[in-house]
Amino acid sequence: MLRLDLTHAKLNKDLATYQKQVTTLHEALMNKTCKGNDYVGWVEWPNQYDRDELVKILEESKKVRENADVLLVCGIGGSYLGARAVIEMVNGLYSKSKPEVIFIGNTFSSTYIAQVLKYIEGKSVYCNVISKSGTTTETALAFRLIKQFIEKTYGKAEAKNRIYATTDAHKGTLKNIAEKEGYVTFNIPDDIGGRFSVITAVGLFPIAVAGIDIEALLLGTKKAYEDFSSSDLKQNIAYQYAVARRILQDAGKDVEMLVSYELQMVMFAEWWKQLFGESEGKNGLGILPTSANFSTDLHSLGQFVQDGKKVLFETVLVVDKPTLDIEFPSDEENLDQMNYLASKKLSWVNEMARLGTLEAHEVTGNVANIMIHLQDMSAETFGYLAYFFFRACAMTVLLLDVNPFDQPGVEIYKKNMFKLLGK
Ligand code: PA5
Repeated sequence: MLRLDLTHAKLNKDLATYQKQVTTLHEALMNKTCKGNDYVGWVEWPNQYDRDELVKILEESKKVRENADVLLVCGIGGSYLGARAVIEMVNGLYSKSKPEVIFIGNTFSSTYIAQVLKYIEGKSVYCNVISKSGTTTETALAFRLIKQFIEKTYGKAEAKNRIYATTDAHKGTLKNIAEKEGYVTFNIPDDIGGRFSVITAVGLFPIAVAGIDIEALLLGTKKAYEDFSSSDLKQNIAYQYAVARRILQDAGKDVEMLVSYELQMVMFAEWWKQLFGESEGKNGLGILPTSANFSTDLHSLGQFVQDGKKVLFETVLVVDKPTLDIEFPSDEENLDQMNYLASKKLSWVNEMARLGTLEAHEVTGNVANIMIHLQDMSAETFGYLAYFFFRACAMTVLLLDVNPFDQPGVEIYKKNMFKLLGK
């Protein structure tokens, strides 16, 4: 389902030199004695997720699929990125799947919010508001506007059939609103943080509304759980990747660029950046996660990768089987002089671009490349890949002796903003 290739990674140390540390940290993660051990609920989730909640998600998502033109998903950070990453990766960017899923609650941009509110006029609108804390300002601000729109358009009684809340099971402002208004609610487990929550109702409900098989996604996480259950670096590719990052940073590579050759993986990279950025960027430490989409960005960032300061390494997601393919046509006149590609598949052209780029960056540019081959862009592969990155992220950050599961740094802008807003 996934293949890690470190043959282009220019590692100057043997992975095995980390085996002892990896074994100790693996045991600490599995026994829940590692740093941040209050937030390791995601580890056993593939075996222990709530089956009744899954049935409820499937039933409710079916109702929304039958009745909605638009599902507004209102959330930010971990309560937003995962669902969007999966929906774009699996369905593509111009899917005809109904309802349309629109993300809001992830910005203060007046233009964006006003445009969405205009766009949904006259459509059958449902909303899934998602917030673990229940108090996130971007989300609360957008939700008040949506709630008023839905109540005004359909009446208060019907509004409760159209609004779903995903939040803490017991407490919080959103929980209180949901109880008072009678919304159907889904639970966010206490011990799973936002950036690990795409495999809970946070991701699963909107993903199911988008017509994607969430049972297949969970099956992918289960397969990954089994494949990454060993602490042995010879067998566990998630830990191999975790250690390779540490070796590269020790060699002066402070930036990791996640690269894909599929435009529908752009949001996946955004999700990955949150996972690694919020987990690792603490105490003056960490690798800066960044991303690019090739060949698009070979016409922009490619210059820096090839010739700029040697601060980065690339981690390339290679999709072995594209979802769709096209044969390039021949043209009698050949005015564009493109006949040399006649009868070739576009996926082959993309692959040749990847191989040419690998040589340019690795050999000519001396840039280390980690390759992660995915079998396809299905829901099951996403589940597997997400769990691979969860395990790798936890290990690579624990190797720095840092808690991977908190994010104290994100509070400071909020404090300053609230002062300015007069809260
Ligand atoms: O990873 C995280 O914890 C954050 O990105 C949160 O998911 C984000 O701030 C949203 O928080 P909440 O779900 O409480 O609204």
